Amino acid sequence: MARVLVTRPLTEGGTDPLLQAGHQVVEPEGGHPPSPVELMALAADCDGMVCHLTDRIDQPLLECGAAGRLRVVANAAVGYDNIDVPAAYRLGITVCNTPGVLDDTTADLAFLLILAATRLASPSEDDLRHGRWTGWGFGDHLARDVHGKTLGLVGFGRIGRAVAHRAAGFDMEVIHTARHDTLAAGFVPKLEELLARSDIVSLHVPLSDATFHLIGAHELAHMKPTAVLVNTARGPVVDEDALVDALEAGRLYAAGLDVFTGEPNVNPRLLTAPRTTLLPHIGSATIETRTRMARLACQGVCDVLADRIPPNAIPLPAQSG
Ligand code: DGY
Repeated sequence: MARVLVTRPLTEGGTDPLLQAGHQVVEPEGGHPPSPVELMALAADCDGMVCHLTDRIDQPLLECGAAGRLRVVANAAVGYDNIDVPAAYRLGITVCNTPGVLDDTTADLAFLLILAATRLASPSEDDLRHGRWTGWGFGDHLARDVHGKTLGLVGFGRIGRAVAHRAAGFDMEVIHTARHDTLAAGFVPKLEELLARSDIVSLHVPLSDATFHLIGAHELAHMKPTAVLVNTARGPVVDEDALVDALEAGRLYAAGLDVFTGEPNVNPRLLTAPRTTLLPHIGSATIETRTRMARLACQGVCDVLADRIPPNAIPLPAQSG
């Protein structure tokens, strides 16, 4: 029987693949998230690990695991910028994530933010909740239309495509940019051109050195002052101070954000910035999807422990292009 560390509780039934395979599920004591030191000690004594995007799986931790018998780390998330994947592979540890099972749920949330940010839902609700709504007014709470506008997708993987699918129902023109020509209709090779043409820009790229602050002051300056920025990818893809500067100066109309640099701390300037809708990283947070994610991560661990290559193993960095 193998020992598999599950760093934080999963949704009900999430660990079923591990239990059905006869593995022992190890959970940190005390019901609190493990500190880095606790995580190291636990990793050294387990064959597999199911972790979360909030766990930092760095080289020292992986070395502790490899010095023991750790063979696989599965992130219960599609993004894996919290894991040092090259170090894991150097140490012979397979890394898995949860692609394909959260696309529609995350796309729903991106569309929620597209609508909420563009229609100024949060500031309007805030007026209602705080007694500032004194009655229906013809010129009050005026926002902008979503239907018929141009939606620019930065990144055109599974989630980006699922957002595009939803946009068709709103009669939107959809354009997209990506690292390589997608050969799909609406491809725009240059980010600046996409930003200049879009009424709403939605980000769907993983966080990497190449995408850190992909949207900064220079890029925001290419956007229309009437445009809206939506981020459901990773916080550091956007330079938040530059974003607040643009919102405060009226150089950008609105923003809808589900992800932040330094979560769970939120840049205080964002909290008071005008025309923003802010959510606490809930892109994939439905019972159905989180359960699918948990099971897929656990299944990846089971596969590696049974000497099978899991379909959700992250390719070796050298092959991932
Ligand atoms: C992911 O899976 O990377 C998401 O950010 C979690 O919802």
